[in-house]
Amino acid sequence: MTITDARTNAERVAALEPVAARELDRHLSMAKEWFPHQYVPWSEGSDFDGEYDGAPWDPEQSRIDAVGRTALVVNLLTEDNLPSYHRAIVASTGRDSAWGEWVHRWTAEEGRHGTAMRDYLTVTRAVDPVALERERMDHMARGFSSEVEGDVLTGTAYVSFQELATRISHRNTGRHTDDPGCDRLLARIAADENLHMLFYRNVIEAAFDLVPDQAMVAVHASIRDFAMPGHGIDGFGRKAVEIAVAGIYDLRLHRDDVVMPVLRKWRVFEREDLGPAGETARDELAALLAEMEKSADRFEDKRDALKARLATRS
Ligand SMILES: [Fe+2]
Ligand SMILES: [Fe+2]
Repeated sequence: MTITDARTNAERVAALEPVAARELDRHLSMAKEWFPHQYVPWSEGSDFDGEYDGAPWDPEQSRIDAVGRTALVVNLLTEDNLPSYHRAIVASTGRDSAWGEWVHRWTAEEGRHGTAMRDYLTVTRAVDPVALERERMDHMARGFSSEVEGDVLTGTAYVSFQELATRISHRNTGRHTDDPGCDRLLARIAADENLHMLFYRNVIEAAFDLVPDQAMVAVHASIRDFAMPGHGIDGFGRKAVEIAVAGIYDLRLHRDDVVMPVLRKWRVFEREDLGPAGETARDELAALLAEMEKSADRFEDKRDALKARLATRS
């Protein structure tokens, strides 16, 4: 069965399996082992209130500003919801053959991210551990579902963008904190997210050569329906605005540094192998990108105006 003949998602998954196997091998040859405990300054730690009768958390103890704390909590809660992402990815790819090996390996690597960040933030008293635990319970209890799960092409296109978005968000959060240890840890995590992005992006690149129209339709849908994986976090909208105003992750970065580089790699606007369905999807994508450009401009203007107002006030 080739992917051109595939009628069901299971048949598409099977047809793309050799690509997944090749990319899994490439990933395993490039991924570097690292240990969360080596990224945490344990000697800074001290007991908390409760069982050990230490000092409760206080904002004064954190060396990271309020926006940095918001971004760190959003990034960590995003990593925490891994069981739901695992479920969503399995709904698209199944858990057989190289796909299964990949999704389990990916899950293990993502699990390392949450472990390392929680240890770092707790030991350095960077964020309120009680609020963090309550938010984790709330977020995970809501679960995660996505418009794009159940279809290997749309699901894989979505994660190509999402992994890159996460990489940039971790990287910029690390820089924003002005805390060298935190920055080092988030840079290490961002390097993993980049390798994850490469796996998914390369699968879609191969799909473009096999079924260009289906790939194009999937890519358009994944950008149109894109939502950050942490969108179910309580108060996500307000937190996302705070993060965007600080320039850690905003629509300009999303369009120019996440969506466009991936589309360029797939040569989306240079392809000459699309049929009517692919052409329509590409036209709709072009219109969507133009709209994103305008929205990004509007946001930047508003942010500039806000900064100017704040500067005059101080
Ligand atoms: Fe991660
Ligand atoms: Fe990742």
